[in-house]
Amino acid sequence: MGTNSSDAATAPPTFGTMLRRHRRAASLTQEELAASAGISARAIADLERGVNLTPRRDTLEMLVRALALPEPDRAALEVAAKRAPSPTRLPSVRRRANLPAPLTGFVGRAEEQLRLRQALTATRMVTVTGMGGCGKTRLALQVAGAVLPDYPDGVWLADLAALTDPLLIVGTVASALDVRDTHQHTLLDSLMAALRARRLLLVLDNCEHLVDACAAVVSAILRACPWVRILATSRESLGVPGEHILTLLPLALPSRTDRLADVQCSDAVRLFTERARAVRPGFALTQRNAATVAALCRRLDGIPLALELAAARLSALSVEDLAARLDDRFGLLGGAANRAGPPRQQTLRVTLDWSHHLLDEPERAVLRRLSVFAGGWTLDAAEAVCVGSEALRADVAGLLCRLVDKSLALVEDAAAEGGERRYRLLETVREYAGEHLLASGEAAGTRWRHRAWYLALAEQAEPHLTGPAQDRWLDLLETEHDNIRAALTWHIADDADDTATRVRLAAALWRFWLRRSHRSEGRRRLTGVRAEAGTMALRARVLFGRGVLAWSLRDGRQAAGLVSKALSLYRDLHDQKGIVDALGILGEIAQWNGDRIHAQ
Ligand SMILES: Nc1ncnc2c1ncn2[C@@H]1O[C@H](COP(=O)(O)OP(=O)(O)O)[C@@H](O)[C@H]1O
Ligand SMILES: [Mg+2]
Repeated sequence: MGTNSSDAATAPPTFGTMLRRHRRAASLTQEELAASAGISARAIADLERGVNLTPRRDTLEMLVRALALPEPDRAALEVAAKRAPSPTRLPSVRRRANLPAPLTGFVGRAEEQLRLRQALTATRMVTVTGMGGCGKTRLALQVAGAVLPDYPDGVWLADLAALTDPLLIVGTVASALDVRDTHQHTLLDSLMAALRARRLLLVLDNCEHLVDACAAVVSAILRACPWVRILATSRESLGVPGEHILTLLPLALPSRTDRLADVQCSDAVRLFTERARAVRPGFALTQRNAATVAALCRRLDGIPLALELAAARLSALSVEDLAARLDDRFGLLGGAANRAGPPRQQTLRVTLDWSHHLLDEPERAVLRRLSVFAGGWTLDAAEAVCVGSEALRADVAGLLCRLVDKSLALVEDAAAEGGERRYRLLETVREYAGEHLLASGEAAGTRWRHRAWYLALAEQAEPHLTGPAQDRWLDLLETEHDNIRAALTWHIADDADDTATRVRLAAALWRFWLRRSHRSEGRRRLTGVRAEAGTMALRARVLFGRGVLAWSLRDGRQAAGLVSKALSLYRDLHDQKGIVDALGILGEIAQWNGDRIHAQ
């Protein structure tokens, strides 16, 4: 990938390219230049790589001085600094996909994989539909990985499961593709500009709760970006013109005979057997148990999630016991057919109920409380959020492990991320657990603890966002962004505490939103919290943050108004650093205004 060669030949060099050239001509490393200019090496690296496209006025001055550039070079660099930057930064050439490593082996689906691959060749938009837990995500990821060689610009996954706000779809897709929020364009325009000449596959996972908004984004991308293909998963189709729908059924069941040779050909049986082996090494399908296993898989309608939940119980039960218990459960309810809803959905529901019923109360309490997390969690977070009368903080780790053993929670591949181990719930399980949380009357308390945890994290991170370890902290906040968004969105109670904690959370995050290019979102969120409910110092920070974000989006007028208000609060507070920062930004804005008037 990379820029089109004719563009590259005619486009003037970027600020970053020129900076690198001058630095090398002066035989300086990034660190050496940073030291003599008095700015961070990171800032120089960001400028050279184009992560940061527009240097601040004072940064530019310091660089020019440190490089001791003669007048013509200096002028040329200043021109490049002001030139409209290209709207987006493109994903680097090395990273061609962001698909997660699978946690378990993939089973069967030979025909579906083939059909999906053919559909992706014949049409530009394919949606895999089907009930929750039937394997849509798994199939989409499997095929997405397999077709990677067909897409020179890679395969990119945006998981929309944790989003509740349709406005964030574009931001989530943009983040997946590393497209930045800049002032010249709306984020959707930036995204389309980045995708226009790309040959890539975009995987939109879990669209069902945002169908209309997804359809709008998908249509816009398909219209503007002729080489982009989209693979979506959703319980219902998106209704986009040209959409090819692939309805996914559960895994194939054994034919009616119970002969071992027939039974072991079924994908449902193979999945069940594989998962059984994970909890009971040495488990095998035999002449003796083939009929029972076949009956079990039929009872579970071949639904992958149901098969996994049942197989996890083989750690303690024999196949015969398991089958008998499940039969009882279905029998108890008068058979799934008597309940409302499509039959397979009832089967899954009964299986989830059964699996839940087998938990002890502390396990249940932890499971339902875990449903407040969006986009996964760490053990520390779970311990802080899931405590209660049934589950003491010290017990949470053990209870979480038991939920993992029962296939209700998942451990993500920590090695791949190189970070702290993370856990999550499958979306279907999260919804189920969420219903129990609401019914338990614990939702408010749990959300409150969740917010307190992420507030503490954000406030701990804040002072580091300008320091030497800023990347690590920014990455951490990015990983927890869905949790933070959830914490900011909930109206837990109609009281001053609720408002005040949201103000604090937003105030701690403006620099993250700025640096990680969630600028429009950050601006919206800071405007949305009722800053007047906070202390004067908080109000000043919120106003200043809003002002800087507005300025980064080149809304000079609003920025000046907000920063001036922040300045007067900082003066009342005798906050010297605040005063200096605010005056710095106001100076930049004035300079920009001056330049504009001059240019007209
Ligand atoms: N073909 C398959 N091979 C192995 N595991 C599967 C397969 N299909 C689904 N699963 C597993 O079943 C569970 C539910 O599948 P998932 O793709 O999340 O369903 P959906 O996206 O339809 O809700 C997951 O744990 C998934 O890994
Ligand atoms: Mg899914």
